[in-house]
Parts: sequence; C-alpha cells; structure tokens
Amino acid sequence: MASKAFLEKQERAIPVQQDVDILSAAARLAGEDLCSIADLSSGEVRAILKLGHDIKVNPREYRHALDAKQMVLMFEKASLRTRLSFETGINTLGGNAVFFDHTNSPLGERESIADVARNVERWVDIIVLRTYAHDTITEMAANSRVPVVNALSDFEHPCQALADFMTLDEHFGNVAGLNFTYVGDGNNVCHSLMLTGAQLGVNVTVATPRGYSPDIEIVTRSREICEENKCRLTLVQDPQAAAEGADAIYTDVCVSMGYEHESTKRAPIFRPFQVNEALMQRASGNAVFMHCLPARRNAEVTDAVLDGPQSIVFDQAENRMHAQKALLLLLLGGLANVASFQSKG
Ligand code: CP
Ligand code: NVA
Repeated sequence: MASKAFLEKQERAIPVQQDVDILSAAARLAGEDLCSIADLSSGEVRAILKLGHDIKVNPREYRHALDAKQMVLMFEKASLRTRLSFETGINTLGGNAVFFDHTNSPLGERESIADVARNVERWVDIIVLRTYAHDTITEMAANSRVPVVNALSDFEHPCQALADFMTLDEHFGNVAGLNFTYVGDGNNVCHSLMLTGAQLGVNVTVATPRGYSPDIEIVTRSREICEENKCRLTLVQDPQAAAEGADAIYTDVCVSMGYEHESTKRAPIFRPFQVNEALMQRASGNAVFMHCLPARRNAEVTDAVLDGPQSIVFDQAENRMHAQKALLLLLLGGLANVASFQSKG
C-alpha cells in the first residue's frame, strides 16, 4: 500500500498552468548544452518543469526512454544531491552513469579541456560538469559534440534553479506573479534563480551585503527577460525590507566552495543576513523557506527555520532528480521513446 507521505506528494504534483509545448522544446533542445539558464527560452524552462512534474507522477512511463545512454559526471568539487540525483535519474530512465572524480586534479591540468572533450565524446552521450571556473564548462561545451550540462560552476547552478521553481510550482500551483526573495551571497545559485525567475514571470528581490551583489551581466540579462515576462528584479542591501510580504525566502551558504579562505572575513558581514524566525515573520503568512543545501546550520539559517513548518528544502532536493530527468530526456532526444509522446509527434 502506498504510504501517506507518497499519496500527499502525488496530490501536490500540480502541472505548470500555462500552455506549454514540450514537443517544440524537445525539438530545439536535442543535442544542446546547458551552461546557463540563459541558454533556455521561457517556454523551454516551462517545458522542463512540466515534464519534470509528469516524470515525478508517472516514472514508469519513462523507464526505458534513455536505454543504454551513457552519462559521465566529472566533478572538481564535492557533491551529495547533484551527483546522486543525476545518477539515480539516468538509471531510472534506462541509462548509465560513470563518475569521474576530479576533486584532486582540476580539469585541464593533465591535458587540455578541448582534448578531454574530444576523447570523452567518443564514449558517452552527455557530459555533466561541476567545476570551479565557469570557463571550464563553456570550453568543454565548445569542444564537445555531445551535450554538456553545468552541474555548478562559480557563476551558475542551472539544474538547482530548475528544481527550485518546479518545487514552487508544485507548492503554489503556479509561479507567475509570486514574490520571491533571495537573501545572502549574490553568486552562482542566486544568478540561476534570478534568470529562472525572470523566465517564469516571478518578481525576484535579491538582498546581499555590499560587495556581494550579483554579477551585472546577469542582472542586465534578467531584467531584459523580466520586461518580456512582465515581472521585476529588485536589488537591495536590506534583508528585512526584502523579506516584507515575500511568498518565498531563499538562502545559500555565505562561504561557497572555493572561498573557504574568506570564512573569517565573511562571517560578520553575512550575520545580519541570517534567515531566522524574525525574518520569516516579515514574509507572507503562507511563505515557504528554501535552501539549495548543504546548509551551515545556525549560520545563514537557524535550525528553527530549516526544520520548521515553512521549510520545503527536502522537496527541493527530491525535485533535483525529477527536473534533471526532464532535462536529460530533452537534451538526449529521449521523448521519442515514450509512448505518450509518440502519439503526439
Ligand atoms: N545543492 C547541491 O547542489 O548540493 P550538492 O552540492 O550536494 O550537490
Ligand atoms: N553556493 C554554493 C552552492 C552549493 C550547492 C557553492 O557554490 O558552494
């Protein structure tokens, strides 16, 4: 018998409301890379979310969609969620994952990134990369004939943002018009959330300490996308004001991987940006708390908030797998093997 938690989850899996054309997205994205959320159109982001919802509810329909496809994960940094959600994701689509640990030797050190790409593409169908430098991802993509996916760089975390907005969509039924507040470091996760929010018509407010605001190119691109989708991006340095009336409050660690040497300097700067019960009180009554995880408990977020009733952090973690399965299907042309899409094609 299905557990209560499972049944509740099924009820919460609400598809994206707008008219979403998954087949057009599938046709355009087959063979493409995902280095940045900006590589996707608004319609493509919505298609990934909608497909993610369907995969979550009907996983058996997709069980053989990527039979025998090979994926390599090349990671320069530690990971729990990203590695396991990609591995379980491709395994449950019929494909296979190979993990290539690069935590002790940066990509491009033993041989050039271009030469790595020209080898790896001969064996696998898709390359998933977690790197320090974003350029490592774009260089691999430029030199590889198989799709390259950014699984976190110093500049973006697109797979995280897709899962996060899928989670919000599931929770609220629709994300367009929501007030989404990010509090903390304006770097990789924040960048991808800004772009994805803009693609989906979400009003995004970002509160960062002075000197830690998001990259200006991402701000400019997000605002251009906001204009098309009739939403706004607001940048502030006051977390209290940013939290006022928010539907979702999101934070990330203050010290990202690669910045550990700045821990002592950053701690006092980020202290006023901690998400605690007082900050959550300023948000809307039914607001949710979000975090990409891993969390540094009682640093950027208190235990009371992280473990409290408004927290949806483990739904976000779960949805990493469903959203990435949707992404893999589109990049690898797997929908052609799914019965419900064959009749529509
Ligand atoms: N959120 C996220 O990317 O987690 P990992 O670092 O564990 O992969
Ligand atoms: N900003 C964090 C995200 C980890 C998932 C980091 O880059 O370490």
